[in-house]
Amino acid sequence: MDKKRALITGITGQDGSYLAEFLISKGYDVHGIVRRVALEDPDNRLTRIAAVRDQLTLHAASMESYASIHQVVGAVKPNECYHLAAQSFVSYSFDDEFSTINANINGTHYLLAAVKNIVPDCRFYFAGSSEMFGKVAEVPQRESTPFHPRSTYGISKVAGFDLTRNYREAYGLHASNGILFNHEAPRRGHEFVTRKITAGVARIRAGRATQLPLGNLEAKRDWGHAREYVQAMWLMLQQEQPDDYVVATGETHSVREFAELAFKFAGLDYKDYVVVDRQLYRPAEVNLLLGDATKAHERLDWTRKITFADLVREMVETDCRLLGVPL
Ligand code: GDD
Repeated sequence: MDKKRALITGITGQDGSYLAEFLISKGYDVHGIVRRVALEDPDNRLTRIAAVRDQLTLHAASMESYASIHQVVGAVKPNECYHLAAQSFVSYSFDDEFSTINANINGTHYLLAAVKNIVPDCRFYFAGSSEMFGKVAEVPQRESTPFHPRSTYGISKVAGFDLTRNYREAYGLHASNGILFNHEAPRRGHEFVTRKITAGVARIRAGRATQLPLGNLEAKRDWGHAREYVQAMWLMLQQEQPDDYVVATGETHSVREFAELAFKFAGLDYKDYVVVDRQLYRPAEVNLLLGDATKAHERLDWTRKITFADLVREMVETDCRLLGVPL
């Protein structure tokens, strides 16, 4: 039997790279969409997929061009399509609302339309987000919780969620939405708070910094490990029927708690180093995220195994090792 073909957008990111490795381990023929500049600058832009680069087929395309998306979907003819590409940093979406909205919504729409037109039997995954819950209507948040996004990033994800559901209902596409709560790993980008903290701890330990400026320390997030969350994406596409699923740990911690634990693992007290910078506060904050993943547990048999403490430790250990100051 021919290998199953998977197409991943956002393959160079944290989730894309873990998903690519996971699908390769399952015997898939894995294809990814990347920007042309990434192919021209592999040492900087393809680092997360460097280890599996020779087992992937990369296609240069722009998520902002229907023609280029159409061309790649036609060339690959995937059996499964994982749409992870997005401007995913919430803070940037306040600086550049229009680009975030345009790129995220159009990218999703182009890809759905191309899949529907060329490979209507292809199973489709959309990376929805707990940011869609925003100013939360209930605690914990589950699939039935109404959305109230607090940023153009969140708004763009709600639109992507609705587009995906509409393609499922209107055209019969096997299209599923993951509502993924925050998920982190040593491969996380440095702009996100967890990596900012663990890289900051490493720099302080290495004597390269004396302070770590952070914004709102009281914001609470449901933080899981990205390696486990990409498996939930795959499980969604193995179900007979497409559907929407919350993926979360069911535990919430504040940014302060994350910082406290990260510094503690390195033998430091966060109070000696963390300074609050009001400029890093967001114009509208999502104060509390806590997910209820009962449906994913019952229908997908998915549960997280990596604990909060293990996640923080792995990230601190990796960053300290990278700077030559292992724990
Ligand atoms: N980035 C950042 N930097 N965040 C800070 C800082 C800081 O210095 N100080 C405090 N925070 C707070 C933010 O205000 C926010 O409440 C929380 O830390 C988490 O911020 P991020 O790590 O930037 O992630 P996010 O929760 O906004 O969004 C992430 O998770 C979503 C899922 O809920 C991203 O991965 C999104 O793409 C994803 O959809």
